[in-house]
Parts: sequence; structure tokens; C-alpha cells
Amino acid sequence: RRARGRRSTRRGRCRGGVCRLAGGGRGPLLPAGPRLPRRRRRYGHEAEAEERVSRLLPGVDRRPPLRAGAARLVQKAELVRLSQTLSLVPRLHWLLVEDAESPTPLVSGLLAASGLLFTHLAVLTPKAQRLREGEPGWVRPRGVEQRNRALDWLRGGGGAVGGEKDPPPPGTRGVVYFADDDNTYSRELFEEMRWTRGVSVWPVGLVGGLRFEGPRVQDGRVVGFHTAWEPNRPFPLDMAGFAVALPLLLAKPNAQFDAAAPRGHLESSLLSHLVDPKDLEPRAANCTRVLVWHTRTEKPKMKQEEQLQRQGRGSDPAVEV
Ligand SMILES: *[C@@H]1O[C@H](CO)[C@@H](O)[C@H](O)[C@H]1NC(C)=O
Repeated sequence: RRARGRRSTRRGRCRGGVCRLAGGGRGPLLPAGPRLPRRRRRYGHEAEAEERVSRLLPGVDRRPPLRAGAARLVQKAELVRLSQTLSLVPRLHWLLVEDAESPTPLVSGLLAASGLLFTHLAVLTPKAQRLREGEPGWVRPRGVEQRNRALDWLRGGGGAVGGEKDPPPPGTRGVVYFADDDNTYSRELFEEMRWTRGVSVWPVGLVGGLRFEGPRVQDGRVVGFHTAWEPNRPFPLDMAGFAVALPLLLAKPNAQFDAAAPRGHLESSLLSHLVDPKDLEPRAANCTRVLVWHTRTEKPKMKQEEQLQRQGRGSDPAVEV
């Protein structure tokens, strides 16, 4: 296979725990991580270097559009911003799940131009789960079908409509992160999550009506959660605040997101299949550093556009925005 031949050359580029890809990390990334020794326990520097070359597989879902058929106006801007953040991350595989019946040219074109290793999936949110115009975002869980489709693909369920069609081969070391397209991610976050053995956690900034939400850590273990809302949820974590080791996801084939989960329990619906809260692995300096922020893109006002359109002088629809 094409990828296999490249593996050894890329592997030679890993120095001091940091892997650089040819061309300064811009070229397509390897579909498979380097083959790692079978030994169970490794220590210190060696383990660090090995962990750092493991693959990242963020499943990225789009928010459902407010009205069926109308993509959000900020979609392309958000995806450009996200894809350029992801371009800074070595050894990354982007699973983008479009909320659409079939892939749209806008997203397909963007993925092709991104230079990233990607897999394009598409699944339309069922009508009953769709947000209605004017409904606040928290009323129903969003992106459930899309995240579950990404999990299904990773488990060999197929359905890729673009990019890499085959899931990582069994035994691949990888880490799955569910990234939203409007959050702000520090590149450091992706280095933190490379260490994940089961489920790793960290704080998320500007969420839940607080400066940050996140696990409380004592002596290197998660002992509770800093959150203002329903602290008794099994995992009071934001979607952006955890990552899961791929082998664990594959070992638990029933673990997925539950569309019927009550408000704020979507994350718990997946994680309760996977890990005991006491075994969560704190990252980001024992959860004292914020490396991801729950930012929101403001909905653009289109008043002038509508006015000009009524006069037949609207912006050229052939220009993709
Ligand atoms: C986290 O806390 C543990 C236990 O107190 C300590 O040994 C470790 O060095 C800390 N890690 C970081 C990155 O600060």
C-alpha cells in the first residue's frame, strides 16, 4: 500500500518527541501511525516520543443549519479557520461529517484544498431532531447523528463520500476528539491529547456561563468537576473537553451518543460506556491550563443583501462565500 512505503521515511523524521512531516507539515498526513513495539509499559522520554507520534482523529461535525436546506452563512469561514488550525497538527486525520444527505461542493472543495488527510462523511439530521428557527441551541442535542456516523466509520461501517475510504487498520494507535467548527483550539491541545490511553480530560474556556469548566484534580487524579450546572451528571464535561483512545472505542462497539439523552447528558451517554470517572486522565497541567475555548461565530446580518436582492442587485451568487 502506498502509505506503507512512506511510513519508515516519515518515522525517521521524529526527533525529540516531535514529528515533522515533509514540507513543514503541509503535505497529506500518513493514514497509519508508525508500528509501535508490543511492550506494554514504556517509561519517560521513550514513552513520550512514542505517544506523540500516535495519530489524532478528530471527528468534526457541523452544526445543523437552522432551516433545512439552508447551509449556515458562516460555514465556509469556520471550516477554513478550523482546517488551518488542524494544518498545524502533525499526524492528523480529519473526519468531517457533513449535516447533509450527500456531500456539498463547498465542503468537498474545501477538504480537497486543505492538504490534510481527511475522510468526508455525510448524514442528514432527522427532521424531528432539527433545531427550529429561533430555538436556542441547547433545546436538543446537536450533531448526534454526525458524531455517531464518524464512530461507525471508524468501526468499519463504511460510508465515506470523499477522501480516505478505509478506516485505520486494527491495532492503530490513535486518539479521537470531537471538534466543533466554531470553537477555538490551541495547537498545544492536540499534543496534550496524544497521550490518551483511555479517556483524557481538560478544562474548556468560556462555557456553561463560567470563565471555564473542567475537572478538579488532586494528586494527579480527577476528584470532581468545576461546573455550575447539574454537577451530578456522571460526566459534567463539554464535548470539547475530552478525547478517547481509538482502541478503547473499538473495544466497546456499543458506545455511541444517545440522541434521546437529556439536556447536558450527551457527553455522559458516550463516556459512561467507556470509563469510570475516577479513571479519567487529566491533561493540560492537571487541568490548570485552558487550551480550548467555546467561542461562537455571530450570525451575520443580511439586511442590506436582502434589500439589494429585492432590487435585483444582490451579491453575485456565483461567488462562494
Ligand atoms: C500533576 O500532579 C501530579 C501529582 O501531584 C504531579 O506528580 C505531576 O507532576 C503534575 N503534572 C503536571 C504536568 O503538572
